[in-house]
Amino acid sequence: MAEEKNGFVPKVVYALCTWCGSGGSETAAAFHLKYPENVRPFRVMCTGALDPAYTLRAFIEGADGVVVSGCHPGDCHYNTGNYRARRRIAAMKTILDTFGLDGDRVWLRWVAHGEGQKLVDTAKEFSDHMVEKGPNPLKERWDT
Ligand code: FES
Repeated sequence: MAEEKNGFVPKVVYALCTWCGSGGSETAAAFHLKYPENVRPFRVMCTGALDPAYTLRAFIEGADGVVVSGCHPGDCHYNTGNYRARRRIAAMKTILDTFGLDGDRVWLRWVAHGEGQKLVDTAKEFSDHMVEKGPNPLKERWDT
């Protein structure tokens, strides 16, 4: 279970590219490494294929944070997809800051197929980070 503060357990969405991020997840599973239950992974073909609209939609639908993991620079199976993802996520952070959502609610971390421990550590670190950040401000606005 995730660390919690005042009963708050963040909803975390974790986008993993098929080749490296998901591979890291499979490696973690092979070694029985566990990430927090509040972290919900989903697969995209490449981090560069992750439409920024889906990231925004995750926040609109109640996610407290979104973390993205894909192949290390130079290792993307689609050559430059991860560079595209890096640019998009930098832009996404600016957009979130502009809307008062805090750009630090989106992280990009490189994870290779064999880096199961790194994937688990990233999930835990990000989840703990979201505990410190608190709930998605959109939820508070809509609940009042
Ligand atoms: S295939 Fe992994 S980031 Fe592009």
